[in-house]
Amino acid sequence: MKKLAIIPGDGIGPEVIAEGLRVLAWFRAQRGIEFELWPLDLGAERYLRDGTTFPADVRDEIASSCAAVLLGALGDARVPGFEHARDILFGMRMGFDLYANVRPVRALSDGLVPLRGRSARDVNFVVFRENTEGIYAGIGGQLRRGSADEIAINEDINTRKGVERIIRAAFTYARRTGRTRVTMSDKSNAMRHAHELWQRVFQEVRLDYPQIEASHLYIDALCLELVRDPGQFQVIVTNNLFGDIVTDLGAALQGGMGVAASVSSNPEHPERVKLFEPVHGSAPKLVGLGIANPVATLLCICLLFEESGFADAAQELEAAIQATFEAGETTPDVGGSLGTRAVTDAVLARLSQRSPA
Ligand code: IPM
Ligand code: MN
Repeated sequence: MKKLAIIPGDGIGPEVIAEGLRVLAWFRAQRGIEFELWPLDLGAERYLRDGTTFPADVRDEIASSCAAVLLGALGDARVPGFEHARDILFGMRMGFDLYANVRPVRALSDGLVPLRGRSARDVNFVVFRENTEGIYAGIGGQLRRGSADEIAINEDINTRKGVERIIRAAFTYARRTGRTRVTMSDKSNAMRHAHELWQRVFQEVRLDYPQIEASHLYIDALCLELVRDPGQFQVIVTNNLFGDIVTDLGAALQGGMGVAASVSSNPEHPERVKLFEPVHGSAPKLVGLGIANPVATLLCICLLFEESGFADAAQELEAAIQATFEAGETTPDVGGSLGTRAVTDAVLARLSQRSPA
């Protein structure tokens, strides 16, 4: 049986993960899809209690025995330096070399799209965010800290291997899923050294995918085009930082942070553990109100099913979620008036209605 580590984490993480587990229980009972669940007490509470962030034995066991990790959220005002979250989150993304952070941006109903004159049809693309290097590599330092002459540096790390594998992953995905266009985004007009490498590698790799149209936009122009005409995009590939930023923009196009899901994996080693996380973060203001949107987590379960060979279940769940949107059975962040649990109830009801076991 596939083992699934569960890290509810901080803020609204536990609230949305609880809903994900209810959906997993439904698919176990009704469709025989079994995951062995391994709940992990990691996050700000644990860190404040005993200083633990991401123990080596847990890390090793995840790497050796888990098919996937489902992570709720990390981030807590009581840990302003983000130490625990960095160890856990980057410990998995970078520690397991999960270089492809894949974030689908798809609007589930017309009403969710905030752009005038645009509908759900116009918002349907997938972002491939490099997930192991760039500015996130943590190379840098501070000099003369606290003085008037202080210097703060973070280096943008771009390796040939890192750039090539994420670009290849994007093209391979496009080909496999019947998409016809890949857009690479960098800032090579200003970052002449680091991003010239992206340019060169992109021109090289595209030759291996002659049936896919390869286009390029500087990141600033990409932001403009995403708002002006999102329908032109199918697959976007970019570095770690630009991918972080552009997927928040993408989340806004698809209805907000409450409905954005992601998976991090190593496409060269599909047998390795994969990390599934809603993009929204810990949302401290919503904690305990019972109105956190569980849909991002439920869409992570769709991705989990897809990546685990249960494509039918993924489609079934996505269709049920979509039906709840069409019926307005949603949390307030996306225009509805239901609570967290009620939204999951609605999804479960539609699952049961639509196709009895
Ligand atoms: C995300 C988040 C993280 C990131 C933060 C929490 C470090 O914004 O997953 O998009 O920047 O990658
Ligand atoms: Mn982000």
